[in-house]
Amino acid sequence: MNIVYHEASRTFHLYNSCISYIMTILPNGQMGQLYFGKAVHPREDYSWLLEMVPRSMTSYIFEGERTFSLEHVRQEYGVYGSSDYRMPAVEILQENGSRISDFRYVSHTIQPGKPRLAGLPATYTEQDDEAMTLTLQLQDPVTGVSLSLLYTIFAQGGVLARSACFTNQGQESVHLLKAMSLCLDLPDHDYEWIQFSGAWARERHPRARALEQGIQSVGSMRGHSSHEHNPFLILKRPHADESQGEVLGFSLIYSGNFLAQAEVDTHDTTRVLLGIHPEWFDWKLEPGGSFQTPEAVMVYTDRGMNDLSQTFHRLYRTRLARGFWRDRQRPILINNWESTYFDFTEDKLLALAKTARDAGIELFVLDDGWFGKRCSDHAGLGDWTPNPERLPQGISGLARKIRDLGMDFGLWFEPEMVNKDSDLYRAHPDWILAVPERNQSHGRYQHVLDFSRKEVVDHIYAQMAEILKDGSVSYVKWDMNRSITECWSPALPADRQGEVFHRYILGVYDLYERLTQAFPQVLFESCASGGARFDPGLLYYAPQAWTSDDTDAVERLKIQYGTSYCYPVSSMGAHVSAVPNHQLHRVTPLHTRANVAFFGAFGYELDLNRLSQEELAQIRQQTAFMKQWRGLLQFGTFYRLESPFEGNTAAWMTVREDQAKAIVGWYRVLNTVTPPYTRLRLTGLDPDRLYTVTVREKNRAGRVVGQFYGDELMHAGLVTSDQSSGESLEGGEASCDFDSRLYILE
Ligand code: DGJ
Repeated sequence: MNIVYHEASRTFHLYNSCISYIMTILPNGQMGQLYFGKAVHPREDYSWLLEMVPRSMTSYIFEGERTFSLEHVRQEYGVYGSSDYRMPAVEILQENGSRISDFRYVSHTIQPGKPRLAGLPATYTEQDDEAMTLTLQLQDPVTGVSLSLLYTIFAQGGVLARSACFTNQGQESVHLLKAMSLCLDLPDHDYEWIQFSGAWARERHPRARALEQGIQSVGSMRGHSSHEHNPFLILKRPHADESQGEVLGFSLIYSGNFLAQAEVDTHDTTRVLLGIHPEWFDWKLEPGGSFQTPEAVMVYTDRGMNDLSQTFHRLYRTRLARGFWRDRQRPILINNWESTYFDFTEDKLLALAKTARDAGIELFVLDDGWFGKRCSDHAGLGDWTPNPERLPQGISGLARKIRDLGMDFGLWFEPEMVNKDSDLYRAHPDWILAVPERNQSHGRYQHVLDFSRKEVVDHIYAQMAEILKDGSVSYVKWDMNRSITECWSPALPADRQGEVFHRYILGVYDLYERLTQAFPQVLFESCASGGARFDPGLLYYAPQAWTSDDTDAVERLKIQYGTSYCYPVSSMGAHVSAVPNHQLHRVTPLHTRANVAFFGAFGYELDLNRLSQEELAQIRQQTAFMKQWRGLLQFGTFYRLESPFEGNTAAWMTVREDQAKAIVGWYRVLNTVTPPYTRLRLTGLDPDRLYTVTVREKNRAGRVVGQFYGDELMHAGLVTSDQSSGESLEGGEASCDFDSRLYILE
């Protein structure tokens, strides 16, 4: 890994063994992009990558010169209005109404390691030799606004982290109307665009299409990253697949409004932009003021989408997530939500906990409904004191009883929200985001607290800290169940209202930071009506997130498969729930529900006291299995093998770092009659190692299938043919819909 500046050619080259990133100072002092891709030889001069020819109807920078136009060179941080007509990375409004900016190179620094971004989540290093950072210092001569572009290259993997920081060193105030975290101009458009989209209960389904001339984008204007779209984008070469080919990934470490966009111009170059959504964004920069954008991470690989995902997983699991739980196996939990909803008493909870303990479950999580007057979703949010009618000895009393059973205790909060029927709202009706004289839209009968204000965050912190301070709560589920509307804060003047969305998220980060610092051993799980804020920003504070409110095993296959393109298995909260499933009313076998959820931060969310003794025995086997294998399941190298979006079967696997062990999950949606013989080609194994393969089918303990070399399993494949459908063979158990198997390789 190195970052080199060549004075004579005014060129920067950032490289490691996987990638090269090359930029140059353009003739007008702005920064030009030359190359991002597989590592190339270091050399003094790459000026051949800067092509400039005269073209009709083009506007040129220099008087009397007809080759240098910003329209036809690739830029590092594109500006509009001075010969480039593509969508810009930055837009600054001056007092005289002008929106042009011209950021010219002034100086640069190269340093080992990576600086932190104040108040924002970001990737980090633990040792200085893990990464190097280049800071380009640019300045606009007219406004005096300076711009620092930060580039961190990591020693491991094809990873580059980027962000931008503006400081107003001029005399007059300006308004930052657009400040993207990343702008990347690519020389062609021969890519497939893959976004991760959905809705409540069907989050992060991959959607692909060819990149075309024009603009394609996804984003969120909901105040959070959203169920609808994720701040993650893949551009892959048309022939690239999971195991080979060039792929680029772009991920924004942010939890609020975002825009991910690709513009292909009619000369077939592509501009990728990623950052805070510019709609409704307007940050006033007074003289001396600065603005730091969130961080964006780009990954390049020529080894396919599994390698891209593994690069993100490694980085986000070890150098974005932090704290006590980062590298620890996650407790098997039971959450009472789908077993009781709001209808519980302490006795009912304890009865559930006892059965859970006997089944081998380690952590009892009390969900919504324990506080204030919260007996339905109409009241109570904002009043974080236990309801004495339900919990006579408060949270600490219940937690003690749970601990006496030998389990840990966890608790649900929804810190950012308030019901109008609450003591908090009655005391502070002006603490919600709302526009004077306008309607106040509600979502699930609740309103959004104005987290752009410190006193509001302080108040919620004090209430939560009061509950957490005696140490009886070892896990917190932080929920968020509505999007923002009427975004306006009485605490800010008219010309700063465009800051509220971002200041809100900074308030969320501030509360997370304070809580995780004060209670470092508490495991935080983020949640937003399931997966509406499953983003890298929150992974910095909470190493796991509730992946989706949809717990149906077949739907979860898709959701977890889609989520795995960017996010590690250890970050995906995954629970076994009741049948008929509460979201889809589908009945799937218990073993399949577990076989899907094992690939995640595993738990249960159903009334165990309604199950038969056989089912409870099966759950005891599942928890024992998970305890034996969760190190590999949660922290192994994850490979997608067969997509649930493409056929009737799906498969994935995880491999231990030393390749000595692996687990394959195989799933079939509908049963088939007289099916063909099938094989699943595995990957990531040691070709020379002899693996003993054991299969776990239905409710049976593992059965040894045979011994095979890694190369046999990877090239000839693992036989997955059904042994039991059609005419039932003697001893074979009937096959069924929604079946699944786990194959253990040792
Ligand atoms: C939405 C979450 O996703 C659920 O898991 C549950 O916590 C409910 N909110 C509680 O209101």
